[in-house]
Amino acid sequence: MAGVLAGALALAGCSQQPSATPEKGKSQLMPQPFGKLPDGTAIDLYTLSNGKGMEARIMTYGATLVSLTAPDKTGKYADVVQGMDSVDGYVKGVPYFGATIGRYGNRIGHAQFTLEGQTYHTPKNDGDNTLHGGVQGFDKRVWTARDTGNGVEFTYVSKDGEEGFPGTLTSKVVYSVTPENELRIEYTATTDKPTVLNLTNHSYFNLAGQGEGDILGHEVTILADRFTPVDAGLIPTGELKPVAGTPFDFTKSTAIGARIEQKDQQLIFGKGYDHNWVLNGTGMKKAAEVYEPKTGRVMEVMTDQPGLQFYTGNFLDGKTVGKGGAVYKQHDAFCMEPQKFPNSVNVPEWKEKSNAILRPGETYKQTTIYKFGVVK
Ligand code: GLA
Repeated sequence: MAGVLAGALALAGCSQQPSATPEKGKSQLMPQPFGKLPDGTAIDLYTLSNGKGMEARIMTYGATLVSLTAPDKTGKYADVVQGMDSVDGYVKGVPYFGATIGRYGNRIGHAQFTLEGQTYHTPKNDGDNTLHGGVQGFDKRVWTARDTGNGVEFTYVSKDGEEGFPGTLTSKVVYSVTPENELRIEYTATTDKPTVLNLTNHSYFNLAGQGEGDILGHEVTILADRFTPVDAGLIPTGELKPVAGTPFDFTKSTAIGARIEQKDQQLIFGKGYDHNWVLNGTGMKKAAEVYEPKTGRVMEVMTDQPGLQFYTGNFLDGKTVGKGGAVYKQHDAFCMEPQKFPNSVNVPEWKEKSNAILRPGETYKQTTIYKFGVVK
């Protein structure tokens, strides 16, 4: 472990520690074994540190964020994401804890889409729909890791036809942590045939610390005047509905639990919040802020994506025993997944605002930042 941390500290750009600088061409990041897949494939865990106390650990299975520490108002660090103690737990089945989601985040309605006149069928792994890229999405693939000098880059090459999607898609995800207590996640992807994609990260946050109970007291702001209502299968209806006057209005900081039990059809469909917000503005922008009153922890989300899926752990059922024996119950965590709007591939009206098509010669790019601070 000490070796891992030393490597990670060097990685964080601690130039005041020249002795920690490795020889030229030698990796600064020392992966740690994190268990094996049933077929014997070894899974590695990479630790990034910003040299100030914040630490992120990411494994090659699913390019998954396994842990992330952030300080509270007294300076005490805690792990603020749910996860498992080794890769076995993930293989046995978790609801995408910390994973990189692809090829297509969230749902594709009726598990099909048409691209350039051809209809493609993807697996029905969520009722009649495809969820998070199908049965063997990117969260269940082994990614290749590379030290970039100031972060770790994970690469996965998805074959033409994999899970029904056209084109060989090469995706790269770079994780880094900065002295400003940011976790940065930067994605790029290229294809050899026209295809569709929607990459995101599915971390389950609890700013009181993972395993520290529910998130209903967390106060949330989402910088979005509209959201995309869904049908009973959680497929957007196509409407961009104003949040004003609904329990989906988080334009002013509001506790997650304040309205979650309201007899609102959308909350009933989602069993809580499980919806996409239409972020105000374009380009890189602040999407959301979450404040946890007991610890004073604050998380800001910045992204260049048009949508933010805010999910309140509605399907967590107390059956998953995670890190350190923590039992994860309904609403014990929340997700903020920046992405294109769900089912964009089937909604032509969204093409301009939420284009999920990638063609040869183009490069898909996405940046999302989770920034941690405190309010004292
Ligand atoms: C997303 C979906 C939810 C659920 C979770 C994983 O956030 O929108 O409906 O499937 O992933 O359990």
